[in-house]
Amino acid sequence: MSAVVLITGAASGIGLAVARRVVARGDRAILWDVSQSGLDAATAELGAHATSRVVDVADAEAVTRAGEAIENVGVTHLVNNAGILGQKTNWDALDVPAVARVMAVNVVGFMQVASVFLKARVAHPSAGIVNMASIAGENGGAPGFAAYGASKGAIMALTRGMARDLAPEVRVNALAPGIIDTPIQDAVMTAPDSREKAAEGIPMARLGTADEVAQAAEWLLFDAPYTTGEIIRIAGGRR
Ligand code: NAI
Repeated sequence: MSAVVLITGAASGIGLAVARRVVARGDRAILWDVSQSGLDAATAELGAHATSRVVDVADAEAVTRAGEAIENVGVTHLVNNAGILGQKTNWDALDVPAVARVMAVNVVGFMQVASVFLKARVAHPSAGIVNMASIAGENGGAPGFAAYGASKGAIMALTRGMARDLAPEVRVNALAPGIIDTPIQDAVMTAPDSREKAAEGIPMARLGTADEVAQAAEWLLFDAPYTTGEIIRIAGGRR
C-alpha cells in the first residue's frame, strides 16, 4: 500500500533528505515549512509526488488550517522535524520570548502537528510518526544552547508518551542526531575550522549527513513494525 508522508521542516537539511527518500520509493510527500523559496526549490526538484504548503508549526491557527487541508489526501505517516536552535542564552538577562519560541516550535509545534495528522490520517500497515530529537536532549546541547537541549529532551519524553498513547494503531519513535552538516549548524559553526574541530570529538571522525539521518527515518517509518517508543542516536558514536 502506497504511503503519503507529511514532513515538517521539509525545505532544507534532514526534512528535505527524508522527502527525497519518500519520493524515491514511489510514495508521496507533503512538505510543510516556513520558507516559501525553500519549498519552491524542493518541489521543483521532487516533482509530482511532492506537494507543499507554507506552515509555521508554532502558529496554532495555521497548523489547524493546514491540517484541514490534508484531511482528504490519505496521509499515512508523519515526520515531525521542523526545529530551531534559537539564540544563545544570556542567563543574566533571560530572553523569555526567545526561550518560549524554541519551545513553541520544537515542542508544542510537534504536538499540534501530531494532533492534526492523527485527525487526517488513514490506516496503513506501517503507520508511524518519527520525531526529530537530538543528542542535545541527553547532553544539554552545545554551550549556551540549553533551551534547545531542553526542548529536545522534551521530545524524547513526548515520544515515549505518544508511543504509549497511540499504540497499537500508530508507532511513534524518535531519532537523536548528533552533529549533522545542515544549515542549522551555521549558527554555531562560525569559525572556518569549526567543522574540523567538531569532527575531533566524534568517534566516526566526521559530521553526519542529512541523508544518513533520513535513511534511519525511512527504516523507522516503513520497516520497523514492532518498534515503538524508541529513540535511536544517529551520532557517529558521539554522546
Ligand atoms: P535546517 O535548518 O536545515 O532545517 C530546518 C527546517 O525547518 C528549515 O527548512 C526551516 O525553514 C524549517 N523551520 C524552522 N522553523 C519552522 C517553523 N516554525 N515551522 C515550519 N518549519 C520551520 O536544519 P536540520 O538540521 O535539517 O534540522 C532538522 C531537525 O533536526 C531539527 O528539529 C533539528 O533540531 C534536528 N537536529 C539537527 C541536528 C543537526 O546537527 N543538523 C542535530 C540534531 C537534531
